[in-house]
Parts: sequence; structure tokens; C-alpha cells
Amino acid sequence: MRLRLLVLLLFCIAAVQPLYRIGVGIADITGPPTDVTFMGYGKLDEIGMGIHLRQFSRAFVIEDGISRIAFVSVDTSMVGDNVKMEVLKKLKGKLPVLYDEDNLMISSTHTHSTPGGHMLYTLFDLSTFGYVPITFLSLVKGVALSIMRAHDKMEYGRMFLSRGELLGVSINRSPQSYLLNPENERAEYEYDVDKTMVQVKFENEFGTPMGVINWYAVHATSMNNTNKLVSSDNLGYASVMFEQKMNPDNLIGKGHFVAAFASANEGDSSPNIKGPRCQITGNPCDIPGPSCESDEQCVASGPGKDMKESTKIIAERLFEKAFELMKNKPEIEITGPIKSIHQYVDMTKEEVEYTDLNTGELIQGRGCKPALGHTFSAGTTDGPGLFSFDAGSNSSNNPLWNLVTNVIPNPSKEQIQCHTKKSILLSTGEFNYPNPWSPNIVSTQLAMIGPLIIICVPGEFTTMSGRRLRKVVAKEMCNGRVLCIPVIAGLCNTYSDYITTPEEYELQRYEGASTLYGPYTLPIYLKQYAKLAYAISKNITLDRGPEIPNFTSKTLSLIRPVLYDIPLSGHSFGDCTLQPTSIATWGDTVIAKFVAGNPRNNPMLEMTFLTIERLESDSMWKIIATDANWETEFIWRKKSFFWLTSEAEIKWTIPKNTKPGVYRIRHFGYFKHFGRRTLGRYYGTSQTFSVIDK
Ligand SMILES: *[C@@H]1O[C@H](CO)[C@@H](O)[C@H](O)[C@H]1NC(C)=O
Ligand SMILES: *[C@@H]1O[C@H](CO)[C@@H](O)[C@H](O)[C@H]1NC(C)=O
Ligand SMILES: *[C@@H]1O[C@H](CO)[C@@H](O)[C@H](O)[C@H]1NC(C)=O
Ligand SMILES: *[C@@H]1O[C@H](CO)[C@@H](O)[C@H](O)[C@H]1NC(C)=O
Repeated sequence: MRLRLLVLLLFCIAAVQPLYRIGVGIADITGPPTDVTFMGYGKLDEIGMGIHLRQFSRAFVIEDGISRIAFVSVDTSMVGDNVKMEVLKKLKGKLPVLYDEDNLMISSTHTHSTPGGHMLYTLFDLSTFGYVPITFLSLVKGVALSIMRAHDKMEYGRMFLSRGELLGVSINRSPQSYLLNPENERAEYEYDVDKTMVQVKFENEFGTPMGVINWYAVHATSMNNTNKLVSSDNLGYASVMFEQKMNPDNLIGKGHFVAAFASANEGDSSPNIKGPRCQITGNPCDIPGPSCESDEQCVASGPGKDMKESTKIIAERLFEKAFELMKNKPEIEITGPIKSIHQYVDMTKEEVEYTDLNTGELIQGRGCKPALGHTFSAGTTDGPGLFSFDAGSNSSNNPLWNLVTNVIPNPSKEQIQCHTKKSILLSTGEFNYPNPWSPNIVSTQLAMIGPLIIICVPGEFTTMSGRRLRKVVAKEMCNGRVLCIPVIAGLCNTYSDYITTPEEYELQRYEGASTLYGPYTLPIYLKQYAKLAYAISKNITLDRGPEIPNFTSKTLSLIRPVLYDIPLSGHSFGDCTLQPTSIATWGDTVIAKFVAGNPRNNPMLEMTFLTIERLESDSMWKIIATDANWETEFIWRKKSFFWLTSEAEIKWTIPKNTKPGVYRIRHFGYFKHFGRRTLGRYYGTSQTFSVIDK
């Protein structure tokens, strides 16, 4: 009897032996927090002056015994192929050769509040005055480290999939374009943006949660273009909330549980759900730029009273849905083989047959050389462009912009013809100084894990473009399968701006004006991803596609180096010049100031510019918050004309339920020695203060 029980028990263990080996990892990728323009809004004066939330790379490695994939979500505006290439190179030296172009996917969350300059193509580095090596190096180092950590921690585990509808987080910011899609197609969907969150949960074989990845289509633009503190925005803060909940004893970015809120087809999906309004009058408006009376801006905001509160509310809604999906019974356990496929495509050489969905006309479409239309420069209602044009006009009142546009040759006849409805502002595909302005060659990639299909796309698909893409891929891959769930991983590997449907393109709003390869960009992608889907399901090997160029050595960098730092007269680096108040309580903001060096000297990867510390009963100081916490802000200010003396201000808003006790604030950093090129390390400590119960 006993023996039979034992045999039964053994059988059960054997039967539940998980299929997959899974590893999760997180690493810091924060770029230079000062002096560098943020990437996203293209606003030249949006120059970093500190940190609100740190940037992280979150990596997930999954293996089925034969193949593996690595999915990485990064808190950055976008990534270029140069990041993936450089990361693979770094891994080659450190890990067995298990990761390659085919199975590594790097998808960015598209936060608009992180330093730029890490792209190779000139257009994307315009607002940072060229390439910024330190942004690129931080990114590559962190992404590689997150993958190595995931790789090293691999253990047997399981994956579960859940889906849920989440309202109150997004609106369509170009609803007029969406309405140009055929009526019968729109009738298939309840909303004009996707409202479904798809989440994968990872558990080890003993049922301990390891992490989640979810995909939800919304722009990370709750922080607007007036923000100057590094922030991972709504998606990043949702990750932080989830991780803090699961790793209560760890500092942010140091815990075992990793939660990625990854991007999807967010092209026309805005988190500013109060919708666009004229800034002064508060009247509803529509077109970005100074479209309201008396030149006031038309911008969208909400749901909070300011951008910080809006970020928090959107992040909370995302987090709460994701947490609920994790707690509830999953829809399915994911089982089945892992496969992946990748191919580079030269979009300017592609041709495609397209049936116009409104007229039924059969069109021979082709990919154009990249070009941006006039409304590109006006920005969106999430962030009006600096170079605002009146709708329909061809010139701006900004001399710098006119200078740039005057240097660039006019579009050729061929370009004007190819881009049809687009009134071309920048024919970026015809201009190569000092480097190509936009990519011709893009990365296309698919991965499947049993029923889950990850469609890794090189840009920002609008809602309907994403829906069409999921359909096409499902048609090739889901034949006869009961469950088959395609998700779009946005801004993956390459960044090539937007992708609208040919119907949406007609209106030439921002998204259409930024659809680089012309009206048939989407049909070309549909054809390409159908090819990948067919190949992956039939086990056909594809060629690698054209070689992507590497022009790292030809990039220009106009950003001035830090000359040197000198302390405020009569002080040393790290001296506390403003002491915190002696007693504070929940909800209060405690402030301290320190004599500082330029934080650009060293972005303190895996470290912090500040700590909030509590005195423990064993008279040891325990760190309870860093510069990655929502409650803290690290703000850096120049104190003299030549930028040489500077000050760091540290703010801590005391969260509810903070333990009463004795606290202190510390600041850490590097300064550049006068007359030498070397860096010196410094730190400073404030006087203690008491936190009391409310
Ligand atoms: C950005 O948000 C702030 C509130 O946090 C608001 O005062 C400002 O007008 C907004 N600016 C734009 C361009 O949206
Ligand atoms: C703007 O330029 C395009 C050609 O690039 C031209 O067709 C259009 O008429 C111009 N619009 C105005 C208002 O000048
Ligand atoms: C797929 O193709 C590869 C070689 O191209 C081969 O080694 C492998 O066994 C094939 N797998 C299946 C399931 O047919
Ligand atoms: C690209 O070029 C740069 C500079 O020449 C070089 O350091 C880098 O390793 C190259 N990248 C790849 C992936 O080959």
C-alpha cells in the first residue's frame, strides 16, 4: 500500500516536471541625468536636471530544452539596432553562444523623459546635438547585465497567460484618422484603441512567482515636455509598484521578482485621457500646436491635476490590473515549443499589392525612401513640437528649424510622387550628412512560446495597424489551434517612427506624417510578417536579409564635455548647505542641499545619487529609499555662469506609514578635478531629523 502511494507520488512529480527553464533579471540603464536633452518630444530646452525615477532593463530568458528566447523591455524612448548588436557582442565574451539576432528581442517602453543621443541616425540625435556616447554605453551595459543576470538565474518553471480589459488608461489621439478605416472593420471592435492587457506570469517549479511581462498599448507620455527629471513614466512606475509589492524587503531594482510593462501598438494611444484642450481657455481642441485662439497651445492631459499625479494614477491603474491578473486563476498554462525568427528588410526596395479597403481598387504599392510630412514638426497633443506650424502651412517661425530645413535638399520628384498625400517636410531618405537621417533597413522578428506569439515590430503601430498585423500573423500560425494569442512588442530592435494604415495615412496627422516609407508601409509589413509566420510554422530557414550599416565611428557629438567642477567657495564637495527640518511627518517633503559635482560625470549605474536612511536599534543606518523611489527627487543646479559650481537638492516626501524614528539624507557623486581629466568621488551626509507619527 505504502509502496503504491510512493510510486503514485513519484509519478505525480514526474508528470508535473515543468517544461521550461526560466530566468529573470533587472539592471540599471540610467543615462546621464543632466545636460542632455530628453528624447521623445524633440523639445530642445527639455534638458535633464536630475532624477525622479531611474531607468531599468528587464530581461526574461526562456528555454524549452532545445531553443530559447530572450525578451528585454527597456525604460527608454527607443532603441536602435546598434544596441542589439553591441549587447550581443558583449554577451559573446561572457556567456556561451546562446543568444543571437534571431532570439533576442529588445523592446522599449517609449518613455519621453530619458536622456537621448543613443541613436545612430541623424534625425533621432538632432535634439541632443549629436550622439551622446555615455547614454549609449549605459544602455548597452545595463541591457547586457540584465540578460546575464536572467541567464545565471535560470531554473525550472512554468508560464501562465491571462488577459483582461482595462479602461480609463488610454484614448485615441488621432480619432479622425482612425475613422478613415472602413466601417465594417471598425465595427469589429468596441473601442478606437486596444484595451486588453495580455500578461504572462512566470513561476518556478515550486510555485514561487518570478515575474510577469504584460503588453498594453499606451504611450508613456504622462509626464509632459516641461519635465526635466529622468523618469520611466507611467509604464516604468507601474513596474516599480509591482516589484515593490513583490519584493517588500528590497530596494528598487534589487529584488528577485521582475515586472515588465512592455509597449504594444501604442502609435495613436495616449494616456492623457482628459483629452486635448486649449491651455488658457480650457476649450476642447483637436490639432496640436497653436491651434487655439491667440496662439495658445492645444495639449492633452489628465487624469490628475498635474503631470505627476496623472503619471501616478495611470501607473496605479496599470499595476492594479496586472496584479489582479496575476492573483486570479490564469486563462491557460503556456505549453509548447519555443521558436524564433528574424530578418532584416530594406523597406525602400519592397513592393506589395494592396487592395484599397474603401474603393476596392488594386494598387501596386512600394516602399518609399524615408520622409516626414509637415505635421511631424507640429508634434501631437501629447507634446506640441517646438517648431509648431499652423496646420497646412509650410514654414515655421523658428529660425533654427528653418536653418535645418534649408540645409536639407528639397524632396525629389520621385519622393513627392511616392509619398502621395504627404506634404514632405524632410526627405530624410535623401540626405546622408553626416550620417543617414533615417533607417532604410529595419529589423523584423517573431517568437512563439506555445500559443503565445510575440510580434516584434520596428516602430509605433497605430491601433488598427496592430490589429491587422495580429490578424495576418494569426492566419499563418494559428491554423487549427484552439488557442493562439499574438501580441505586439512595440519599438523593438529598430526605431523607424510610425506605421499607420493606408486609410489613416490619407489624413496626414502626426502619425501619418511620420509613417516613413509612405502609404504602403503597413501592407509591406503585413506581407513581411506573414512570410516570417509561414517560415516559422513550416520550419523554413530565411536568409538574414541585407547588412545593417554601422556608422558609429562617423557620428558627431557636439555636446560639451564637463570641463571641471569646483566646490562652492568655502566648501568641499558633499557639504550640506541646507539641513533638513528637525521634525517631519507623513506627507511632508523634507529637503536637503549639498555642494555637488556634475552628475553627468557618472550616472551611478546600479548605485544612487541619494539615500534616505533610518537609524536602527543596533545603531546601524538602514537605507530605505534611493533616487529610484517615487518619493524622492534628485535635482541638480548650476550655481555659476560657467557651470563649474553646482548644487544638488534632494527631496523626500514622507510616505504614509513610514516608521517613526531618526533619519538622515546622504548624497553621492563624482567631480572632475581641476586641470586633470580624472574624476574624484565624494559624499555628504545631512544632520539627522525625526519622523513622527501623524
Ligand atoms: C505640463 O504639465 C504641467 C502640470 O504638471 C502644466 O502646467 C503644463 O501646462 C503642461 N504643459 C504641456 C505642454 O502640456
Ligand atoms: C506646401 O508644400 C507642398 C509641397 O511640398 C505644396 O504642395 C503645398 O501647396 C504647400 N502648402 C502651402 C500652404 O504652401
Ligand atoms: C527544422 O529544421 C532544422 C534545419 O533547418 C532541423 O534541424 C530541425 O530538425 C527541423 N525541425 C523540425 C521540427 O522539423
Ligand atoms: C561599430 O563600429 C564601432 C566603431 O567603429 C565599433 O566600436 C563597434 O564595435 C561596431 N559595432 C559592431 C556591432 O560591430
